[in-house]
Amino acid sequence: MIDAVERKIEQYISELGDQYVFRLYKNIPHGKRLRTKLILKIAGSSLKVIKTAATVEMIHAASLLHDDVIDDADTRRGQASVNASEGNKTAIMMGDILYSKAFFELNSVSSEVAKVISNAVVQLSLGELADVELSKSFHTNREAYLKMLYQKTASLMEASAESAAILAGKNRKAYRQYGHNLGLAFQMIDDILDITEDSKTLGKPALHDFVEGKVTLPYIYLYEKLADEDREFLVSLHRKRLSEEEALWIKSAMKKHHIIEKSYNEAKVLIDEAIESMELLGEHDLSNIAKAMIERKF
Ligand code: FPP
Ligand code: MG
Repeated sequence: MIDAVERKIEQYISELGDQYVFRLYKNIPHGKRLRTKLILKIAGSSLKVIKTAATVEMIHAASLLHDDVIDDADTRRGQASVNASEGNKTAIMMGDILYSKAFFELNSVSSEVAKVISNAVVQLSLGELADVELSKSFHTNREAYLKMLYQKTASLMEASAESAAILAGKNRKAYRQYGHNLGLAFQMIDDILDITEDSKTLGKPALHDFVEGKVTLPYIYLYEKLADEDREFLVSLHRKRLSEEEALWIKSAMKKHHIIEKSYNEAKVLIDEAIESMELLGEHDLSNIAKAMIERKF
């Protein structure tokens, strides 16, 4: 069924009649297709469902193309990013093409679904802007960080689950909440893996978030635990290329203060809630997706 979504995306892109765009798209490694998995599990595989999943994946891909320009990222999924290999202009326009074609196609699915997804893209964009603002200097604003996480990552997963529920005639509120929890936990785990995993596993440099300026939850919690002098040292490392010693200092301070456990448990509360709600609805596959999310290593 995932194959049908891949074929639909390729069909949409070949309809554009541009060989260069098609080649570029084929060169972009796609990820776990998590949003597609959610949509198909909730709503089956009718043509409308396949189209919805294809448009969501195109929007997601577009947002990452733009994000890599904004973050000035050299790699994406272990491969040179489009901005690195083709330049910023191409990456931005490729994102715009994927995004606008997706919207054009979404209109023929259902106006309700189009509304839910377009609202998520507004959130996505607000979230990316908030991320840029929050990354400019060190901060300890947990609420602002969580709001940004919701907008930047959870909103599209929430919209994917809700759209699928609309198409399947299921309770949209329950599935929306499931997507919400899953999306937030996904990003929280991502933030943790950036600290605990090595660069080979991640497909990007380790501790990259902090170097990029992103003060993720573990860093906020670490700051709260540190004595004044160490706080100052942590803040001095923000947005800095880290030496091996400095990276080690961060990792061992995180360990000493049990920061990873604290952050992980916060994600786990959301996952447990998602699992419980799906078990109640008899959606075992969806509860398994949530379980796998908390156990993932990359
Ligand atoms: C990755 O964040 C970024 C996102 C999930 C969303 C980016 C959204 C936009 C650029 C808004 C524009 C949207 C469209 C559809 C044109 P990250 O940098 O924390 O994660 P990473 O490590 O995967 O780069
Ligand atoms: Mg990024």
